[in-house]
Order: sequence, then structure tokens, then C-alpha cells
Amino acid sequence: MIEITSCSSRRDFLIACAALAAGGCASVAVRPVPRNGDVVRLSLAEYPELSKPGGFTKILPEGAENPVYILALGENRFAALSPICTHRGCTVEIEGSRLVCPCHGSTYDREGTVLRGPAERALSRHELTVTGSDLFIKVARP
Ligand code: FES
Repeated sequence: MIEITSCSSRRDFLIACAALAAGGCASVAVRPVPRNGDVVRLSLAEYPELSKPGGFTKILPEGAENPVYILALGENRFAALSPICTHRGCTVEIEGSRLVCPCHGSTYDREGTVLRGPAERALSRHELTVTGSDLFIKVARP
């Protein structure tokens, strides 16, 4: 597991850091994962947090610029979301049952649907399939 900041080396640096000036940049733990072409495979055995209610993990597919958030939705359902806010591109953070943008307060549910603006569009969602105890997430090629 590595530690990166949601503000480092990103175009939203100034916006996000200005919004977080009082407390500094928010950090997120992201797990780098290998890819096979445009697919990432996650074994639930290796990500026990995804088997818990409200569980989530953050992965960084090999060669990708941005992480992907994997959220447990219950009943063996999952969402794979881009953390990039659709308003102006800041990185959202997971806060309980919601994803919240630190820049202007847009709020999304765990499936990426907008609950509160100014964002008007849902978070981008990666195609995800469940086969047995493995998740297969489609990601863009680097
Ligand atoms: Fe997320 Fe503005 S960039 S609310």
C-alpha cells in the first residue's frame, strides 16, 4: 500500500488545496494493482473490506493517472467509480454513505449519482463484473 495525496501532480492542485488550506491536502491510501490489458482483477479474499457493509477500497491500476474507487453496495454488488468530480475535476473523498468533493461540496451516493450540486453529472463508472469471488474492472489503457 502506498500513500499519495489527492492534490499532488494534478490539475486540480490549486483549487483543491485552496479549499483545504486550513487543514492541508487530504491524503488517501491507494493500492497499486497490476492490469491485464484493460482489465483489473481483484480477489475478494485479498480485499476483505469489500465484504463488509459500507466497505470500499481505492486502487491505482498500473499505468493509470487516477485511482478507481471500489465500493461495496451489498448483496454481492459493487461500484467502480472514478473519483474525479464532474463539476471541475477535483478528487472526491468517501465519507460514509456518500462521496463528497472538497472543492465546492458536490455530493454523490455510492453509485456515483449526484445528490447535491453544483455537479450535474454522475461520477464516471467503470464496468465491473463479479465472477465467483473475483471482481473484474474495466479500465482505460494507459
Ligand atoms: Fe467538485 Fe466543484 S470540483 S464540486
